[in-house]
Amino acid sequence: MDNINIRRACADDCKGILRMIKELATYEKLGDDVHLTEQELRQDGFGDRVFYQCFVAELKSKETDEASSPQGDSLVGFAMFYFVYDPWTGRSICLEDFYVMRAHRGQGIGSEILKLVSQVAVESRCSVMTFLVAEWNADSIEFYRRRGAVNCTASEGWHVYNITRQSLQEIASDQKPWRDVVVQA
Ligand code: COA
Repeated sequence: MDNINIRRACADDCKGILRMIKELATYEKLGDDVHLTEQELRQDGFGDRVFYQCFVAELKSKETDEASSPQGDSLVGFAMFYFVYDPWTGRSICLEDFYVMRAHRGQGIGSEILKLVSQVAVESRCSVMTFLVAEWNADSIEFYRRRGAVNCTASEGWHVYNITRQSLQEIASDQKPWRDVVVQA
């Protein structure tokens, strides 16, 4: 950990973050599904409207960069998160991507990143942190369990559903523009 600096991400980190998003997707056996571009990542995290926040772990020394990253990028881990709203309990935080490169795991980097995200959650009065984890990802499930995570799919029967953009377009096309929906006094 001496050689690691954990900090908030800045716009110039987006190249390294996108690389790690792809590495995590490959780890999760979904490698081909990342369509996001570096430009979108920049705009959505550091533009006028912020859609996500990020902590990154970087190597302090330049020499070790090349060994750890094929692109010479010094970033070795990250957590991407954003706020959501629960109608029963109010503010909550969603941990979206959480990843440390294999060569750097088991040194406490993930724990430190999770501490920082937890601090943001507590300071922001969030009542809960939610995240998805693949059922085969036993190592990460244990990592989360040891930190108090509860499997809500098992205990409450929740299932994750998506409506794709194509279906959204079909639903939306029948409706007058939402900006024209007048609030009745
Ligand atoms: N690899 C992973 N974990 C190891 C390890 C190794 N080679 N050697 C030991 N461990 C143990 C640590 O002792 C520690 O145990 P603890 O939970 O009792 O503290 C734990 O595993 C890892 O803790 P830490 O070093 O703080 O975390 P990390 O830097 O390894 O990062 C993850 C944790 C989950 C982010 C990281 O393992 C990872 O990127 N996994 C693959 C991607 C993934 O599954 N992400 C989560 C998706 S939901």
